[in-house]
This record gives sequence, C-alpha cells and structure tokens, in this order.
Amino acid sequence: MSLPNINPTTTNSWKKLQEHFKEVKEVHMKDLFAQDLDRANKFTIKWDDFYVDFSKNRITEETLKFLLGLADEVKLKEAIKSQFSGEVINETEGRAVMHTALRAPKSSEITVDGVNVMPEIHQVKEKIESFTNEVVNGHRKGYTGETFTDIVNIGIGGSDLGPAMVVDSLQYYKNHLTTHFVSNVDGDHVNEVIKKLNPETTLFVIVSKTFTTQETLSNANTIKSWFLKSADENDIAKHFVAVSTNIKNVKAFGIDENNIFPMWDWVGGRFSLWSAVGLTISLAVGYNNFDNLLQGAHKMDEHFKNEDFKTNIPVVLALISVWYNNFFKAETEAIIPYSQYLNQFATYLQQGIMESNGKSVDRNGNPIDYQTGTIIWGEPGTNSQHAFFQLIHQGTKLIPADFIGFTKSLHANQDHQDKLISNFLAQTEALLNGKTESEVIAEGTQKEIVPFKVFEGNKPTNTIFINKLSPESLGKLIAMYEHKIFVQGVIWNIFSYDQFGVELGKQLASKILQEFNNTAVNTHDSSTHNLLNYYKDFS
Ligand code: F6P
Repeated sequence: MSLPNINPTTTNSWKKLQEHFKEVKEVHMKDLFAQDLDRANKFTIKWDDFYVDFSKNRITEETLKFLLGLADEVKLKEAIKSQFSGEVINETEGRAVMHTALRAPKSSEITVDGVNVMPEIHQVKEKIESFTNEVVNGHRKGYTGETFTDIVNIGIGGSDLGPAMVVDSLQYYKNHLTTHFVSNVDGDHVNEVIKKLNPETTLFVIVSKTFTTQETLSNANTIKSWFLKSADENDIAKHFVAVSTNIKNVKAFGIDENNIFPMWDWVGGRFSLWSAVGLTISLAVGYNNFDNLLQGAHKMDEHFKNEDFKTNIPVVLALISVWYNNFFKAETEAIIPYSQYLNQFATYLQQGIMESNGKSVDRNGNPIDYQTGTIIWGEPGTNSQHAFFQLIHQGTKLIPADFIGFTKSLHANQDHQDKLISNFLAQTEALLNGKTESEVIAEGTQKEIVPFKVFEGNKPTNTIFINKLSPESLGKLIAMYEHKIFVQGVIWNIFSYDQFGVELGKQLASKILQEFNNTAVNTHDSSTHNLLNYYKDFS
C-alpha cells in the first residue's frame, strides 16, 4: 500500500478553512483570551514531561476542528499506519521509511520487504555498544598503544548535522573524549581540525550512507594522507571506522571489515542519527545515554502513533503550521530554544524540514499550486532577543515561533535559570499582547515617539516546556519534529523522503571542477563563464 494521494485543496475541510480564515484573520488573540478564561487549558497538551501550550496562536476551537477534519480527509491515520508498518512510502526512491524501527524495543517485529529488521538493528546496536565501551574504557588502543582522546566525525548533511547537534546538546553528559566534526569541503575546515589532533590518539569515524559524497570522501582522504605521514597502512584498521550502506566502497577506502557499521537504505540521511550514524554520539556520551536518546524518541513514536489527533503533539503542531503557511501565507517559522545547549537545534531542523518538505510537485508528479515547506531558522534565546527579535515584534512579517524551554537547568544555577525563564515567558506574552497606543501614552512617552513604541502583538507562538534536558527528553523533542515533518508532507501530498533538488548543483560542480583544467571553457551562461575564468586566473 502506498501513501494516500489527496490534493488537500480539494477537501471540504480546506474550503471551510478558507471561509473561516476570512472571518478570523483579523481577530486579536488578546480578545480570544479575554472571551475564554479557559483558553490556555483547552489549548495545552500535557504528555509525559512535556507541557505544550499552543493557546497563543491565531486559532479558535473551530479552526482546530477544521484542521483536524483536514487531517482526517487526507487520511493521515492510514498514512501513519503505512509508515510504521514498513510500507514503501518513499515511492520515488522505492524505499520504506523506517527510522522509527531503529528506536523500537528488541522484542518488536517490524518487517521491511517481508523481513523482520529488528534482529539486524539490534546486532548493530550491540556492536555500537561494545565498540563504545572499548574506546571509552581505554581497552581499544591506537597504533602506538595509546588510548584514544579524540574522535573525529567525518560526514555531511544527515551524516553530520544530527550527531553534531546531539553531541553539542548533550555536552553536559559528555565523557573525557573530545569530539570534532569535519563536514565542509572547504579545506580550511579539515585543516583547522587536524591542527588540534595527535594521530596516535585520534579515532576517525567516516559517516556516509552512500560513501560517494564528494565532501566526505575528500575530507576522509585528506585525513588519511595526514595520518599516513606518521603511521603506516596497517595502522588504518586501528584508527578508522566507517558507517555506511556501501560496504564495497568502504573496503576500497582501506577500512577493515570489522570496523564497518552497516546501515540500511530504509533510513533517510536526515533521519539517521538513531542508527550507527549516531556512533559519535555514543562515543561522546556513552552507550547508555545514546540508548536513552533512542528510548525517548520511541516514547514520542508511541504517542504519535496512538494518541487521538486532538491531543497528539506532532499532529497539532503540524496542523497549526499548515494554518499559517497555507492560509496566513507565513513564509518562515522560527525555532527559539531557551537553552544554550540547543544552539545547533534550528540548524539541524533546517535539513530535516527543508530537505524533506521543500517540494513543488505532488504525488502524481503534477506541479503544486499551494505552499509547501516552510523556511526554518532560529537561534537560542536570550541571545536572539538581542539580534532578530525586533523584526518579529515590530516588523511587517508574520513569523510563527516555537519557544522551547526547560523547567530545570542542568547546572542548577537558580538565579540564571529564573532570569532565563522569565525572558522565555515574557517574550511569548509580549508577542501575544503587544502594547497599545494608550499604554504607551500612559507610560509618559513623548507624543511624537508614541507610534514607534506601539507593538501590534498577535504574533503566534507555541511554548514547549520540558522538565529537563536529558538524552531521553532530547530524543522525544527530535522525534516530535520528525513526525511534524511527516504529517505536513501527508497534508501537502508530497514525497517527503527524497531530495532530488540537491543533485543538480552537485552535477554542475563536478563538471566545473573538470573544467578548471581545460584551457577554453565556453559552455556556461555568460555570468558563470566570467566567474569561472576569473577564478582560473588565480589558480
Ligand atoms: O544533502 C543531500 C544528502 O543526500 C543528504 O540527504 C544526506 O544527509 C547527505 O547528502 C550526506 O549523504 P551521505 O551520508 O550519503 O554522505
């Protein structure tokens, strides 16, 4: 069975939403709160250690009813079932989409192409566990008998962003190993990392699902050459491991068979941190913490799979986002974590969300005449308050934002935590209420300055309040966004799990690379032609 194939704009719910939008588009949330004293409770989902308040949105109970109707009409329930049961929902690549199986308990039975994949998954997890323990405990040693002090993850996109974000987010839980990430083909990146390394005590984890990615192979080769300046070929087995589906290419690179951590084509790159792609996470925070991350994600999977849509966190967040994207025509969404640990979270989600839902052709291959994937951006608060919040508060654009915060701080510095959370709460309140002209005047503001100090308010936010940043709660949070992506892809009737849009640039880059050696190049538009020749003059 494939995914349902329904143009959302042809549904009754879509039409009702269009009519409804005309009625409510100017309504101020302040008035909605004043009219219904129970609004915050009605629009809050409490689940496990998550408190998700979506009451500060430009929605009424009717809006939600129509949005939930839309979810039913596009057959979201059936789509969820198809995904979790291993059907080939990535139809353009002929693959199942089974990152959820990676975090399912060993006892589950999940089949892809008629084969239960759980034994293989757990075999690889056991390999990750024993390898991690050997490295962390110092039993595994480098070519001179030294224990490892540094880990370098070499990968890009999903083979970098997920592990890098999680390691950074869980640095409180980190062990003694120093982790580095090399991703960019910009040689300055790899050279800056190499500068800090001792080949005798460094372990390299090459992560590439395809093992054909230009950036990753270039960086891996540069690092191998650097390593071989002090070690010899036989030592590679002690210092290089790889995560890939392409065992043949990994071996050709010179990596020992025992040092290969397999993955499967039913794991999409941007959803792969739960697989052996997360090896660097396991090395950095220990296998138990890695496993807790997976268990947290599994809890969110169960919530998503079983919870009524009305109280289903990923479903409700996805629907609200569709409301702004397709009716208010909001182009972007901001992700604002009030935790410095989540510094890389928005960057990570940019790939997850934009590579998945940046599509303009529907499941029939026809061009779409409605909006799909939102532009994602963001930075932690309070820093972002001093950077781009001005535009969110008083600019001309509507920017729905997710505010993510933790009730407890990890270092238990209550003074800082109270200040942080007071800002976290104050911002969503300010965005909701704004400040009226009479309020500005009442503050004694000089008459001519009054218009500049008025805040319209009515800016939508979701508040996602979590007890504490832990491997488990982070796992839940990431999985929450993964499911939001899926729901939106189903509603927009697009294929969320391919990424052909990345290919064209890659193909042209390899053509141009060859042309750097040609004397006369005249196969481009005049701009590219001039730029190419300008560069050639310098090289
Ligand atoms: O950006 C395109 C992409 O294919 C991503 O989906 C993927 O995460 C990344 O490149 C890296 O691919 P690989 O793991 O095969 O090196």
